[in-house]
Amino acid sequence: MSRILLSGGAGYIGSHTAVELLNEGFEVVIADNLYNAEKSVIDRIEEITGKSVTFYEIDVCDKSAVDALLDKENIDAVIHFAGYKAVGESVQKPLMYYRNNIDATLTLLESMKEHNVKRFIFSSSATVYGPFNAIPYVETMKIGDCTSPYGTTKLMIEKILDDVAATDKELSVVSLRYFNPIGAHPSGLIGEKPSGIPNNLMPYITQTAKGIRECLTVFGDDYDTPDGTCIRDYIHVVDLAKGHVAALKYALNHAGSTPINLGSGKGTSVFELIKTFERVNNIKLNYKVGPRRDGDIAAFYADAALAKKLLNWETHQTLEDSCRDSWNWECKNK
Ligand code: WQD
Repeated sequence: MSRILLSGGAGYIGSHTAVELLNEGFEVVIADNLYNAEKSVIDRIEEITGKSVTFYEIDVCDKSAVDALLDKENIDAVIHFAGYKAVGESVQKPLMYYRNNIDATLTLLESMKEHNVKRFIFSSSATVYGPFNAIPYVETMKIGDCTSPYGTTKLMIEKILDDVAATDKELSVVSLRYFNPIGAHPSGLIGEKPSGIPNNLMPYITQTAKGIRECLTVFGDDYDTPDGTCIRDYIHVVDLAKGHVAALKYALNHAGSTPINLGSGKGTSVFELIKTFERVNNIKLNYKVGPRRDGDIAAFYADAALAKKLLNWETHQTLEDSCRDSWNWECKNK
């Protein structure tokens, strides 16, 4: 069975993808420098699946380390998660983001070329659509005008992948444009574990419900949306992980460079998410409305048709499932 390398595979999306790959009978190798992940995640992936994972604690910017791994492991495809992803931090530290996110990708691609590895799935983001496209976002739209250096690294990497695939007819690349991943594996053994104060909405909700945070601030209720709060396309991380398995199966049989949205195709407002979380978990959340956050776009969600057409993939988990699983993870995650 195919042996798949997950760079950054100990992280939130990577660990859930490792579980779904193992469940499908793939062999999994994880390379992670544990900058934003814990080694215990590897054990939990094995506990959930009852299967073993090969783990390398390396930085994928280190060419000699990646070469040594590909010398030793017979890898059929790479799923590339490794990268810094804090939008606000990227604005403060652009050089760190460009150096790390671009360098990691170039190092992997160079080593893959030297080892004749021809399939690459990239963890991209809806942020590449920028603030000016109409909604729902479609893959054929012009991308760019990203609102942060983090988003621009995703944009640059997609362009690099297009150019590299244009010169190597055997190379198969799929850039998966994530919308807003939330939720956790129903076991409660793996989930999102932001370091420090959470930037994203769902972990801030669960930490407020847990009493770790005093109060959730809703960043603005004066947007041009039905209830005044921002609208996003929230996708359960297990659905997202299964989308990676579907993209891998597609890449194993197709060449070229293809961007594909991974979203539910539905928009949910901040207030709607809060109300759903409260109802599903029977919790009264402490929140207040504050000023808008710089860079926030009023509303965006996915046109999910291409993923259904090419990958035969669509979301199945509901918003309620995501709220229930996020809270279960927060309660079990000591
Ligand atoms: C969602 C909504 C906030 C926190 C970003 C990146 C994207 C991806 C996911 C990395 C917005 C509101 C949030 C809070 C709030 N990247 N909010 N109070 O900004 O849509 O997407 O994260 O993994 O590339 O751009 O997600 O969860 O930060 O915000 O009111 O304490 O929740 O204003 O409207 P976002 P988010």
